[in-house]
Amino acid sequence: MLNRPYTIVVSGKGGTGKTTLSSLLVRSFIEMGEKPVLAVDADPNANLHEALGVTIHESLGSMREEAFTRKIPPGMNRHDYVRFRFRQALVESEGFDLVAMGRPEGSGCYCFANDLLSECMTELEREYRFIVIDTEAGMEHISRGTIGKPDMLLIVSDPGARGLRTITRIREIATQLGLEPEKIHIVFNKYKTVTAPVDIGTEFPIALLPDDPEVEAADLAATPVSQIPAKSPARIAVRDLAEKIRSMAIARTK
Ligand SMILES: Nc1ncnc2c1ncn2[C@@H]1O[C@H](COP(=O)(O)OP(=O)(O)OP(=O)(O)O)[C@@H](O)[C@H]1O
Ligand SMILES: [Mg+2]
Repeated sequence: MLNRPYTIVVSGKGGTGKTTLSSLLVRSFIEMGEKPVLAVDADPNANLHEALGVTIHESLGSMREEAFTRKIPPGMNRHDYVRFRFRQALVESEGFDLVAMGRPEGSGCYCFANDLLSECMTELEREYRFIVIDTEAGMEHISRGTIGKPDMLLIVSDPGARGLRTITRIREIATQLGLEPEKIHIVFNKYKTVTAPVDIGTEFPIALLPDDPEVEAADLAATPVSQIPAKSPARIAVRDLAEKIRSMAIARTK
């Protein structure tokens, strides 16, 4: 049994398959009965909802500003208002909820609103078994510390040299910010037979996701990638990864 949700952040170079992996992870946890799952789209160019086959109406980005600039309805304090709007921004679906973070805050100081937001998240978090956070490409979220301290950081790379070099950079920043190295794992995606000869340290990837024509077909057909057939190689590989993560979540000590 999990006494609190297990949070997984998915990071990596652009186009390596973060959103694909995030959506397939959500799908796998649901199939395994590990629900509800909270899917968080932390990419301002939100598209996790498309991968999951749901529609978003608004993101939290606008709410952060509103909590300060708009008149709060009578009888509500700011906290109630943020909580109310947060619930509005949450998309509820079969086995999972989705929330999109929207663009990062503007130049003003939204620390107060952000604090309220994380409070809402904490209140909400209790309901979930797993939280999967899809991030934007690169290191922005990691370096700004906006993702907090997840239980697991997955760094996705394709077999190319640039993706592999990004692994090392993300890992460095995350550990500098205090994330324990044992919580950081590498996923190779679009794997065929080889990876570029780039040293990524000694760690063996936690998962090898094959290059999968079904994933490509879903993209070309503009259908949700999380709904590729159950026998698709990428889906099978992500399911195996989800099983591994579940074992790690159960064994979590801190
Ligand atoms: N295992 C796979 N096999 C074949 N194609 C894949 C695989 N994984 C991802 N792709 C394709 O790679 C492209 C990028 O995938 P995706 O959008 O998941 O990456 P991303 O890392 O989220 O990108 P971004 O950095 O833009 O957010 C998409 O066209 C997707 O269909
Ligand atoms: Mg993406």
